[in-house]
Amino acid sequence: MNPQTAATAAYIVAALLVVMSLAGLSKHETARAGVVYGIAGIAIALVATVVLVAQSITAGAIGLLVGGFVIGGAIGLWRARVVEMTGMPELIALLHSFVGLAAVLVGWNGYLEVEAVGPAQTEVPPEMLGIHSVEVGVGVFIGAVTFTGSIVAFGKLSGRMKSRPLSLPGKNVLNLGALVAFAGLTVAFTISPSIGVIIALTAVALALGWHLVASIGGGDMPVVVSMLNSYSGWAAAASGFLLDNTLLIVTGALVGSSGAYLSYIMCQAMNRSFIAVIAGGFGVESGTTSDVEGEHHEVQADEVAELLRQASSVIITPGYGMAVAQAQYPVADLTSKLRDKGVEVRFGIHPVAGRLPGHMNVLLAEAKVPYDIVLEMDEINDDFPETSVVLVIGANDTVNPAAEEDPSSPIAGMPVLRVWEAENVVVFKRSMAVGYAGVQNPLFFKDATSMIFGDAKQRVEDIIAAL
Ligand code: TAP
Repeated sequence: MNPQTAATAAYIVAALLVVMSLAGLSKHETARAGVVYGIAGIAIALVATVVLVAQSITAGAIGLLVGGFVIGGAIGLWRARVVEMTGMPELIALLHSFVGLAAVLVGWNGYLEVEAVGPAQTEVPPEMLGIHSVEVGVGVFIGAVTFTGSIVAFGKLSGRMKSRPLSLPGKNVLNLGALVAFAGLTVAFTISPSIGVIIALTAVALALGWHLVASIGGGDMPVVVSMLNSYSGWAAAASGFLLDNTLLIVTGALVGSSGAYLSYIMCQAMNRSFIAVIAGGFGVESGTTSDVEGEHHEVQADEVAELLRQASSVIITPGYGMAVAQAQYPVADLTSKLRDKGVEVRFGIHPVAGRLPGHMNVLLAEAKVPYDIVLEMDEINDDFPETSVVLVIGANDTVNPAAEEDPSSPIAGMPVLRVWEAENVVVFKRSMAVGYAGVQNPLFFKDATSMIFGDAKQRVEDIIAAL
């Protein structure tokens, strides 16, 4: 069989496997199979591409390709093995930045091979040159926005950059100006391609990506990560057009559209306007939180144990701190001890608790907490007034009453678990520090709230011992 035909056949199989992978990933029970289909699809695509490319390049270039493959694959494998569950979103953000960078390089390569050498020297027919130039402009633009946007997301998620939104004066005008400049530069590049124009286009896109994500506050970061996922898909699709590679177009479009839809669903869960978030906080005034002042009440493990002994119903609302402390195992242990004593124990899971969608559910399932007592926020939010004790384990933003009570708060309007309506609330954290969104939490100063300080795992173990 001719290598090109064989590669096309392999690409069709790979595209089907990627579609099956997405379908599998949409359900708990089939997720593992989905991952296997995805790995198989991409492995087939890689092998087919290398075999096809190897027909027409020198031995030295094949060596480079294989070397890149082995080194890149080894680094990827090592990172994926050592990454902590809590570090997953930042790793994903970093990987998106690679897709963006690759799209920029593919775009630049397209320019160097076609526009830079002139119509006489290229294989692109003269009537297609204009389309090629538009593809270069769009590919470089989406890639560069994804590249810098993902780097800022990585910086914010890993704590290397402040999570507060950057609010430059006239930020919406800056964003719109960048879009207009992009359109103008692409037209200019198509009419008369020159290195100056493509450098300017790349610079505008790099600055826009940086500014878009820097303008988004910590609380909206989950949406940003899935949105960058979508951008990276469109960047890959744009590269597919330039490289004339159908598989890249198909997989890029799948990633682009599924990422966009996931972002939309997450915006709905957080009561955020989708357009506002993708436009970099467009229309959202930068919040000024009134500094919450007050006295907090500190308790020790034996007092919490006493409170639990008296309780008839308990709701546990875990957050990022439970993941950091790896407290899910003692929490599961405490749950079964209380249930044995006849106390009703349930979990309330906020849709963005932790650092990635479903984070808390995965940890609780790992510790074998029964599924039927783990409830979504909407299923449990009306039950707090009839609850004796709420244990807030390493959660902060997701239980912040300011979201409902303070319209000037950066997290105003985000749905929260209304834990403060319960008879008693015990908050587990190490200090009085703010949560991810960088906002102070008035819950800590309410009369019915007690704070138990220290590592959540250690404190829960102390409570089990005291019980
Ligand atoms: P956060 O608001 O980040 O609060 C976590 C709390 O855990 C902090 O108050 C911290 O206080 C405490 N903590 C940390 N380590 C601890 C330890 N070892 N022992 C005890 N406490 C510890 O978490 P959340 O309530 O889960 O809210 C999630 C936030 O992350 C939201 O703002 C959300 O938008 C954002 N986010 C979510 C996602 C997704 S998709 N879920 C992705 C990215 C960002 P101390 O430092 O005082 O201990």
